[in-house]
Amino acid sequence: MTKPGWLEKKHFNTAGPIDKDDHYYIEPLNRFDLDEILTLIHRKKYFVLHAPRQTGKTSYLLALMKYLNNEGTFKCLYVNVEKAQAARENVRAGIRTILQSMASNAFKYLDDSFLNDNWKQIFAESGEFSAIHEALNQWSAKSEKPVVLFIDEVDSLIGDTLISLLRQLRTGYTERPEGFPQNIILCGVRDVRDYRIHSKLENEIITGGSAFNIKTKSLRLGNFNLDEIKKLYKQHTNETGQIFHNDVFPLIWELTEGQPWLVNALGYETCFEMKEGRNREEVISVDMVNQAKENLIIRRETHLDQLVEKLSEERVRRVLEPILNGSQAELIPTDDVDYVIDFGMIKNEKQLRIANRIYQRIISGELRKNISRELL
Ligand SMILES: Nc1ncnc2c1ncn2[C@@H]1O[C@H](COP(=O)(O)OP(=O)(O)OP(=O)(O)O)[C@@H](O)[C@H]1O
Ligand SMILES: [Mg+2]
Repeated sequence: MTKPGWLEKKHFNTAGPIDKDDHYYIEPLNRFDLDEILTLIHRKKYFVLHAPRQTGKTSYLLALMKYLNNEGTFKCLYVNVEKAQAARENVRAGIRTILQSMASNAFKYLDDSFLNDNWKQIFAESGEFSAIHEALNQWSAKSEKPVVLFIDEVDSLIGDTLISLLRQLRTGYTERPEGFPQNIILCGVRDVRDYRIHSKLENEIITGGSAFNIKTKSLRLGNFNLDEIKKLYKQHTNETGQIFHNDVFPLIWELTEGQPWLVNALGYETCFEMKEGRNREEVISVDMVNQAKENLIIRRETHLDQLVEKLSEERVRRVLEPILNGSQAELIPTDDVDYVIDFGMIKNEKQLRIANRIYQRIISGELRKNISRELL
């Protein structure tokens, strides 16, 4: 007997980080070699973790924070600085928002009220160009355990706000571990090294590599492999009894090449949205997955919309157009190619190609639309 849909506890996640109680999931901590990560942490390294949109960066950092805090050697804090994006180049507003987020997260995740009690005064006394350094200095000095800090969505910041944050972190580096976090992981879509940040205050372009020259390593989170796709879908079978035809897995691989959001979205569409697939007695077939793919392409949910938005950048089109036309892709500047690879849109395997069949459909459809618009 299968349960009616509303009694099923779990589903494929298509919005935000993994919640182990509600979602099918691949153990986030296994997505990197945990020993390698722990070695970097114990050696007091600052490093970067980057990956395209909706790959599992935040799920990974939240799981690592939990792991480290349970293990007990460190005091680990995750903070997402995306809210400060709205401040744009207003350094004062941006840094204030970051401090506030750090303070509330320290309270929420660690039950530690030091930053909550003190950040406003520190900000008033030290000002925006020094307050983060000062707050982390005082907090680390007071903490019995070495502090480890994860800063997520760092590349949502721009201009002098981003430069100021990076420089304040660099200033504190030599004071670690007693007077500053012993590790900082910066997380975003691109590697800090590749940021070219326009400073209005200094009227020049500052590279991320120079503002944050204390980074020792960049780790890139990859996609799922075929085994992981099967493992994820198997959880649905275990939970509901619903079976996937064997041919479904190679098809999902071909359509997504393991891109984590796409893998989940196909699963969700097939088994939770489509009427036929909601019947748990029904074996999920290749035709149903193909129909789910069409539905996703037509609906263009946030993930696919973000892809389309990127196509408005001249730099991105300069790379994609020759790849699609099969013409002179070798003449595209490497910097531009790397930029588009960082967004997960293309792969460089012997030759450049679009990263998966779903992206291929969306990208070629959109660019063709643009070309016909230009011809009108
Ligand atoms: N461990 C996992 N197991 C299964 N699916 C996952 C896992 N991690 C991520 N995903 C899929 O990726 C989506 C995005 O996860 P998450 O928010 O952690 O990624 P992100 O890289 O931080 O995304 P963003 O770029 O939007 O910040 C999830 O909604 C889910 O579809
Ligand atoms: Mg995220």
